[in-house]
Amino acid sequence: MTIKQNLSLLPYNTFRMDVKAKIFAEYGSVKELKQLLQQFRGERILHIGAGSNLLFTKDFDGVILHSAMRCARCLNEDADHVWIEADNGLVLDELIEQLCDMGISGMENLSYIPGESGASAVQNVGAYGVEARDVIDTVRAVDCSDGTERVFTNQECRFGYRDSIFKNELRGRYIITHVVYKLNKHFEPKLDYGNLRSEVGEHPSVMDVRNAVIRIRKQKLPEVSELGSAGSFFKNLLLNRDVYEKLSGNFPDMPHYEQEGGIKIPSAWLIEQCGWKGKTMGGAQCYPNQPLVLVNTGNATPQDIMNLAKAICQSIKEKFGVEISPEVNYI
Ligand code: EPU
Repeated sequence: MTIKQNLSLLPYNTFRMDVKAKIFAEYGSVKELKQLLQQFRGERILHIGAGSNLLFTKDFDGVILHSAMRCARCLNEDADHVWIEADNGLVLDELIEQLCDMGISGMENLSYIPGESGASAVQNVGAYGVEARDVIDTVRAVDCSDGTERVFTNQECRFGYRDSIFKNELRGRYIITHVVYKLNKHFEPKLDYGNLRSEVGEHPSVMDVRNAVIRIRKQKLPEVSELGSAGSFFKNLLLNRDVYEKLSGNFPDMPHYEQEGGIKIPSAWLIEQCGWKGKTMGGAQCYPNQPLVLVNTGNATPQDIMNLAKAICQSIKEKFGVEISPEVNYI
């Protein structure tokens, strides 16, 4: 276990905001996590993963917890499936690479998403037609209030679009320590999203799909190691049919996708229509290859990012009469 005081969080958030944490503590086991929770009872606590989906808006006057548990194990298998348990701190893409290597499928479309396994369940990360909820079997968590452990079934996690019970009713209450994924021994590629099918070619292997997803992501999204960002800054818009029909009357070229629960409008399109692609505000930029992403061009302050996000939302409200909301968590 390591505990540091007054630590710069620069290496711990992909937006590269240079803010400080009063205390930063890293644990290597569930036992150590429970000790830390006891030691810091009463303090403001934030558990982070790779810091790839948050924006620190100022110094953090509390305890940042981070996991150094980074292993995975096979819990069970039958003729068709394998149950893999990942520690919360295991980098999701490292797990996916190993699984693809072994020909185990289910997560290949999620390749190259920055972040760690625990946070992937909180956020229900998704890409190219697959979401974490499609492969999560159960989640193990520790209750911050009394240190007891609890298992959540997939249903109990109440997953939604970039959403789960851990972002709502149970926000701040539980720390996910392990995620159990139910994966497939027999590969059935999911290639219906965008240009994925044409990118992979005929009879792809699991690794072919992973490599195609990585190629597409690299064309559109900034490398977090090169340019600070938190992936998509905004969520896509889900409209009910009445609102959609009114809007599409005025904007007949608006792209739209039928979804469970409504009609999805790509926020990237709304942002582009308002002329934001490539625009900067201070050190913040609306990324030219994918305007849903805001980037730190080098010296952006949290305020620069927030100002740009606010201005984008406002102009969309004025032009289209709809409100897009951030996917990124403001801390
Ligand atoms: N579009 C534009 N202009 C652009 C780019 C895109 O109009 O410059 C429109 C097009 O109509 C395009 C549509 O946006 O067809 C969708 O674009 P894309 O396939 O790139 O996906 P997205 O909806 O913008 C979502 C996720 C990404 C995920 C991709 C692929 C959210 C908030 N974002 O983006 O996830 O990688 O789909 O599945 O749902 C993330 O969450 O951080 C993330 C990167």
